[in-house]
Amino acid sequence: MENSIEIKAEEINFYYGTKQALKNIHLVIYEKQVTALIGPSGCGKSTFIRLLNRMNDLIPHTRVEGKIYFEGQNIFEENVDVVSLRRRVGMVFQKPNPFPKTIFENVSYGLEVNGIKDKKFIEEKVIESLNQAALWKEVKDRLHDSALGLSGGQQQRLCIARCLAVEPHVILFDEPCASLDPISTRSIEELILELKKYYTIVIVTHNMQQAARISDFTAFLYLGELIEFGLTEKLFTVPKQKMTEEYLTGKFG
Ligand SMILES: Nc1ncnc2c1ncn2[C@@H]1O[C@H](COP(=O)(O)OP(=O)(O)O)[C@@H](O)[C@H]1O
Ligand SMILES: [Mg+2]
Repeated sequence: MENSIEIKAEEINFYYGTKQALKNIHLVIYEKQVTALIGPSGCGKSTFIRLLNRMNDLIPHTRVEGKIYFEGQNIFEENVDVVSLRRRVGMVFQKPNPFPKTIFENVSYGLEVNGIKDKKFIEEKVIESLNQAALWKEVKDRLHDSALGLSGGQQQRLCIARCLAVEPHVILFDEPCASLDPISTRSIEELILELKKYYTIVIVTHNMQQAARISDFTAFLYLGELIEFGLTEKLFTVPKQKMTEEYLTGKFG
């Protein structure tokens, strides 16, 4: 089966001031597949994933070169509507970051920001999103309680629901389980496998087992360079590059 391309990054260089964090990255992200970005701390995983919805725009003194094509456009072009881009390419962070608002408001917020006023629609969308994030059953009787009272794993699923409510096409996860216990981690992994039926997923993880369990494609980065990209099954069993093999076998971390 041929996979269709959702995102195509070409010749990406990225700089924090004079420090180059990404070097000539070429990478494709396939539609409705899970792509994992792996590599040691500081290799540029977060920097790369943040480029995909232009979150790096918010960091001063940074500069990007190259192109990222998504839905018929190079996202760095001047006429790109960044708000719309970030709706289509949602993001879930390492540390769950719900707003200090109610559970309901956390999910309805994005809809209201996008100008939706129909109360019935908002209510249905909140329920649908909480359901999709496998959280509905746990929160249906406390929708108007503060989100900050939820456990870490529940907060992370709430952040996923918040992201789903505005109907993204791609979801970026930057180490979504880094602060979670093994049971919550498992539920997030199961959720990602369910979500990939409907969404294109990119996940940064420094947990190689996690990449092996849930991703279809893996990109291995080292010191800002893309060392190897391929089917997860292949990359983990018969890596082409010596450096990939050494990383996978724990020769360096
Ligand atoms: N806001 C920033 N300002 C300056 N340098 C940064 C910033 N964020 C990351 N870096 C540097 O860029 C490189 C890549 O970082 P990052 O993308 O966070 O790596 P990873 O997510 O793989 O751990 C590192 O050397 C890091 O120190
Ligand atoms: Mg990171």
